[in-house]
Amino acid sequence: MDRIRIRGGNKLNGVIPISGAKNAALPLMIASLLTSDTLTLENVPHLADVEQLLRILGNHGVDVAVNGRRESQTESYSRTIHFTCRTVVDTTAPYDLVSKMRASFWVIGPLLARVGQARVSLPGGCAIGTRPVDLFLDGLQALGANMEIDGGYVNATAPTGGLVGGHYTFPKVSVGATHVMMMAATLADGTTVIENAAREPEIADLAKCLNAMGAKISGAGTSTITIEGVTSLHGARHRVLPDRIETGTYAMAVAMAGGDVTLEGTEAALLDNALDAIRMAGATVSETESGLRVVRNGNGIQPVDVVTEPFPGFPTDLQAQFMALMTRSSGVSHITETIFENRFMHVQELARLGARISLSGQMARIEGVSGLKGAPVMATDLRASVSLVIAGLAAEGDTIVNRVYHLDRGFERLEEKLTRCGAEVERVSD
Ligand code: UD1
Repeated sequence: MDRIRIRGGNKLNGVIPISGAKNAALPLMIASLLTSDTLTLENVPHLADVEQLLRILGNHGVDVAVNGRRESQTESYSRTIHFTCRTVVDTTAPYDLVSKMRASFWVIGPLLARVGQARVSLPGGCAIGTRPVDLFLDGLQALGANMEIDGGYVNATAPTGGLVGGHYTFPKVSVGATHVMMMAATLADGTTVIENAAREPEIADLAKCLNAMGAKISGAGTSTITIEGVTSLHGARHRVLPDRIETGTYAMAVAMAGGDVTLEGTEAALLDNALDAIRMAGATVSETESGLRVVRNGNGIQPVDVVTEPFPGFPTDLQAQFMALMTRSSGVSHITETIFENRFMHVQELARLGARISLSGQMARIEGVSGLKGAPVMATDLRASVSLVIAGLAAEGDTIVNRVYHLDRGFERLEEKLTRCGAEVERVSD
């Protein structure tokens, strides 16, 4: 099994190309099930989660053609992928495929909208809480679907004549359930209004693509989304937006290790709240023509308190990385996790490097230390694993991160991107 070895102490200097967003690419790929025409997506990142979804879509009858090309001088490797689902050949998403990645459950929306039925295994994914699917079931029921759970599967059927427009207010903000309901409603008969919808940039990106395919969606990116149903969707070409979590992760890595790095091809508006926290911690972040420049000014890292919230608040997907940064602050900081109930598994691994963190319910208290010391650590989930890399960059000696497959689910060519900026990071295979 692969491991990553980091020799800490080097500053980061140079350019890091930011990839297309994993969390946008996945729903966009799933949207290809809604039409018999070709959907072409540009800037699709090369990640284990994307490869897994390609297998799942293939099982439903989606033909996939991939073109890869080096895009810029810094060799951002952007893939253009053509998806064509002439006919849905299988409406079952089986356990052995869905259990590897939670987002694959989302095929339920397009399958139901296009062919009126879906049998989808209850999902797996990161072990960061119970992550139920009640909001998906309730949302699709509001469109007239009949939803039953049987033998670990959700059996969904649309009424004769297809889904019908409906009004649904989410009792809790859910990114996935908003994606699914929005996709399903595009082909429903009549108008759907979704309230308390997720406002993440990836929701607006999916709506933009669906509208290019002929859907009539307004309000995506706000908490009220209105979808006027149409009878069919057609093909389109769409570019996946930049990955705001990857952007924030490298910005925090620079704040931690020090240096001067341009994050190429990304936008501040995607993560204002996290960038403010990074600035308060002592780094300078400025927008440039090519992206964002992050410089850490040699001073110590300041303690900053953050609370994770749905967008536009501080993202839960940057919580572990920010905690790694705070382990070196010059005081005490607090991080409160409000989205997932079990998302502090990195705490005990950071402690192995010398961090002083105590937990009380959903709040972590981090007492900054003057230095971390390298050690073997275990990646526990996708974002937690990269927090260990950030800590390793500033630790004395070698940090070995085991179970790197978590990292490969969501970070494209991480060791190459960091090495090009002067870090000593290498992948070790047994
Ligand atoms: C998405 C992101 C993930 C991110 C998360 C929160 C993708 C592929 N993944 O995950 O990286 O961490 O948003 O920003 O985009 N919930 C319910 N019932 C449901 C659905 C969700 O109670 O039916 C709860 C969850 O357990 C969680 C909260 O709602 O506590 C938010 O989850 P949700 O926004 O749905 O996360 P995902 O879409 O799975």
